[in-house]
Amino acid sequence: MNQITIPRPDDWHLHLRDGAMLNAVAPQTARHFARAIIMPNLVPPVVTGADAAAYRDRILAALPQDTAFEPLMVLYLTEQTDPEDVARAHATGLVRAVKLYPAGATTNSSSGVRDFDKVRPVLEKMAEIGLPLCVHGEVTSAEVDIFDREARFIETVLDPIRRSIPGLRVIMEHITTKDGVDYVMAQGDDMAGTLTTHHLIINRNHLLVGGIKPHYYCLPVAKRESHRRALVEAATSGNPHFFLGTDSAPHPDHAKESACGCAGCFTAPHTMQLLAHVFEAEGALGTLSKFASENGPAFYKLPVNDTTLTLEKTDTPARWPEKIDCADGPVTLFDPGFPVYWHVKD
Ligand code: DOR
Ligand code: ZN
Repeated sequence: MNQITIPRPDDWHLHLRDGAMLNAVAPQTARHFARAIIMPNLVPPVVTGADAAAYRDRILAALPQDTAFEPLMVLYLTEQTDPEDVARAHATGLVRAVKLYPAGATTNSSSGVRDFDKVRPVLEKMAEIGLPLCVHGEVTSAEVDIFDREARFIETVLDPIRRSIPGLRVIMEHITTKDGVDYVMAQGDDMAGTLTTHHLIINRNHLLVGGIKPHYYCLPVAKRESHRRALVEAATSGNPHFFLGTDSAPHPDHAKESACGCAGCFTAPHTMQLLAHVFEAEGALGTLSKFASENGPAFYKLPVNDTTLTLEKTDTPARWPEKIDCADGPVTLFDPGFPVYWHVKD
């Protein structure tokens, strides 16, 4: 198969930032994706319905005119979040999810949740109105090894939340371990997991062997190869519990190529080409549509897009710029480390 046409894909976990970075990266996603779940970890974060409405307007203003792209807005859960504000923002169709960052887990997460009892009224309201909770699934205690933080989160935070708030619809985002895959697979229809493009491609050796590669550093950090294999199997299985959330997370190069570099891989421009390569290598091109275009809308109770995207394989390796320009400094694209022969037909 040298060509594949799928319903236009959506990205169920995306960082667009703000200001100059937003202007640089929003058009990159809108080229191939119809919709995206927009992460709210700005400084200050997107906490209220009013914050989300203003941010959505800034996103739309950053796109070329007549671009058909719908940002799906997300509120950042804090211990002060007002359940009624969340319900109102959901009722108007503005807000599609609420994001739980355990305080300190990752970039701009200091306003996140420390005491889960404080957010119980919001979570109960969300269960009542069917609004999904997106979770960054890592514990943050200093004594827990960074490679164990996801597995520990499932046991000590995620499973207890799910048991204590039945009916809450939860997405475990950017799963990086077999533990995460197994947990999601064992749950019912109110639980899903997103997988990033880069975690399907790199393991921790890519990050650390032969010199530290700051552009492969992200959170949750890439794990050992057996975990990567579990992610690839989940993504290519077609199982409706799993769908694409790129976690494309741009930072200017100076912030990554540093003695204390930021977490995040920038994959928005070439994600669909990389995925076509990964799925083809598994003999699973037939399930790419489920992963990138169908399972996400089904979970979010939205229609599958009625436009399409065509990918074509040629003898010529695909080329993309090493970096894109941004007024804050250049942003390096994720390098898969192998040639890719898939192209998006525009
Ligand atoms: O690698 C990451 N980058 N993981 C996150 O959870 C946050 C993101 C960012 O905002 O840069
Ligand atoms: Zn993210």
